Amino acid sequence: MEPADVIVVGAGISGLCTAKTYKELAPETNILILEERATVGGVWCEANLYEGIKTNNLVGLYEFSDFPLLGVSKYGVPEGSHIPGRVMYQYLTDYAKHFDVYSSIQFHTEVKEVEKLGDGWRITATKTNVNGSTTEKVYECKKLIMCNGLASTPRPISIPGKEGFDRPIFNHGGLAREAPAVAKDPSVNHVTVVGASKIGYDAVHLFASNGKQVEWVVRESGGGAVWMSTPWIPLGPWMVMLEHVVTTRFFTWFSPCIWGHHDGFNWIRRLLHGTTVGSLFWNARVGIHNYPTDIHDYIRSGQVTLRRTDIDHIGKGGSIEFTDGSHMQTDALVAITGWQLVPKINHKTSEGIDNDLGVPSSSQTLEQENFWKGLNARADQEILKQFPYLRNPPAAKPPFTQTVTPFRLYRGIAPPGLTAKGEHSLVFLQMVHCTANLIVAETQALWSFAYLNYKLPVDRSNVFWDTALTSRYGKHRYPWGFSAWWPEFVYDAVPYADMLLSDLGLRRWRKKSWRKELFEGYSVHDYEGINHEWVETQQKKVTAG
Ligand SMILES: Cc1cc2nc3c(=O)[nH]c(=O)nc-3n(C[C@H](O)[C@H](O)[C@H](O)COP(=O)(O)OP(=O)(O)OC[C@H]3O[C@@H](n4cnc5c(N)ncnc54)[C@H](O)[C@@H]3O)c2cc1C
Ligand SMILES: NC(=O)c1ccc[n+]([C@@H]2O[C@H](COP(=O)([O-])OP(=O)(O)OC[C@H]3O[C@@H](n4cnc5c(N)ncnc54)[C@H](OP(=O)(O)O)[C@@H]3O)[C@@H](O)[C@H]2O)c1
Repeated sequence: MEPADVIVVGAGISGLCTAKTYKELAPETNILILEERATVGGVWCEANLYEGIKTNNLVGLYEFSDFPLLGVSKYGVPEGSHIPGRVMYQYLTDYAKHFDVYSSIQFHTEVKEVEKLGDGWRITATKTNVNGSTTEKVYECKKLIMCNGLASTPRPISIPGKEGFDRPIFNHGGLAREAPAVAKDPSVNHVTVVGASKIGYDAVHLFASNGKQVEWVVRESGGGAVWMSTPWIPLGPWMVMLEHVVTTRFFTWFSPCIWGHHDGFNWIRRLLHGTTVGSLFWNARVGIHNYPTDIHDYIRSGQVTLRRTDIDHIGKGGSIEFTDGSHMQTDALVAITGWQLVPKINHKTSEGIDNDLGVPSSSQTLEQENFWKGLNARADQEILKQFPYLRNPPAAKPPFTQTVTPFRLYRGIAPPGLTAKGEHSLVFLQMVHCTANLIVAETQALWSFAYLNYKLPVDRSNVFWDTALTSRYGKHRYPWGFSAWWPEFVYDAVPYADMLLSDLGLRRWRKKSWRKELFEGYSVHDYEGINHEWVETQQKKVTAG
């Protein structure tokens, strides 16, 4: 058994950021990071780097506030461009080494179970050795920080007839490993890509740019194509960066947001959302055209053809039969199957109440089900009272279901059951979908440090109610996406950071002038130094009394 003060699960952006923050604020802490893969990076790990992958974000906006990527000659990413995946991988490796968290990582170590002890957590993991054999490892720690990501496990392909399909077939998890052979194989003329999420666009681009004829199947029963935008968009006479629009305070007011009041402009929000003045985009699933050429040119030229139907089954000779009665033959099939929400990790507590931890669960007791049903019904009423026009969402059904309860985390981070009992030993970071992931990573890392060390005031009587509001809000606000299961916010990241900073007693309005505060987009650089600011406020508290 290996003891540690703190264990972090996952060495992606959030795991590295939280470990670095912890080390900075409590250097004496013995931290271990358990990572199932061979390298750091998470979605940007070496093994995931498929041809053409780049950040949606422009360089400068997907980097840590105290470790620049933009302008550093080693990375060579020109201003105004997207960061290639390989640079992200290198950058995150450098970050881990620079802040001395790299040496705390145990690679090839997959966490299988976390169990609540009287004081802390026991973690059971499987270590894969160099010769491929596995060893069970057991760890114990006082504080556990889960940073295992929402996009770690692709769902398996479930198309009927898959076993008899005698052509290459893989999902997005195979884009790095299996796509190169298909893309370079001269005997492959025709590739079928199923799904038009951002990763679906990437797959289509990958094969089309390698000269393949691509049949792009967008499931009729699915969610359709993700909303794709150029990084710069026209706004009146100006060209503005989309990323900045969604993090500009003035524009965030137009999004009805249950935690919006934390930004300090509640009167404006009330005015907008209590009347019909407020307007809104319902879609939170946004991708950016980050390709060297216009991907639509392939459609215009006929190299990529679109088909809006479902696959009924597939079979021998690369045959695909569609539900509309049509059929075709292909040389390879790539299916975008989404990410698995059912946790791979078993969460155990003495009470066996894994959903009190707020993680997706399929073993809710009747008592728990009724508890949340009641709370959810009240939360729904409150949300629809505050934002009346959420009562009439666009007619669309959520395209997919997950067979588990949603994430229900206090502030999107802490298990409500334990928090309400006053126990702060576990957090889940970055269990959100948004475009301001670095703002979320840095503010959550500091919030969780304060929370885990009991330096954050929490109104225990309000924890379940607050959690229900946050978790139900997404379902009403973004009915087209995944919000029924986890917080998905594109327009609400700045007020989210405001909320965390308010909890920490830190400055929310971080711009240098009011004009900038209202009309300049926020980036992670506006949050530079928050750890230091928080330490100062703590010291002042001690001095005062
Ligand atoms: C292909 C792709 C591209 C993306 N591009 C962008 C982008 O351009 N801009 C943007 O803002 N967002 C992007 N995202 C969203 C992205 O998920 C977040 O920006 C961010 O990288 C998430 O970081 P994370 O650390 O929370 O999770 P991850 O990066 O997923 O890291 C989780 C880590 O936990 C490890 N892990 C999981 N389970 C276990 C276990 N049981 N035991 C041990 N280790 C485990 C994983 O191996 C992984 O290393 C992208 C997502 C994908 C899938
Ligand atoms: N930097 C980049 O260029 C880049 C690249 C990839 C991803 N990303 C980011 O990563 C995040 C995830 O994007 P993503 O493209 O990987 O996936 P996603 O947006 O999570 O979409 C997954 C797709 O999987 C399909 N799916 C099929 N069965 C499903 C099921 N049962 N449950 C859920 N989904 C199912 C859905 O397609 P149907 O609707 O057709 O069924 C869905 O659109 C996004 O924030 C995205 O912007 C960025």
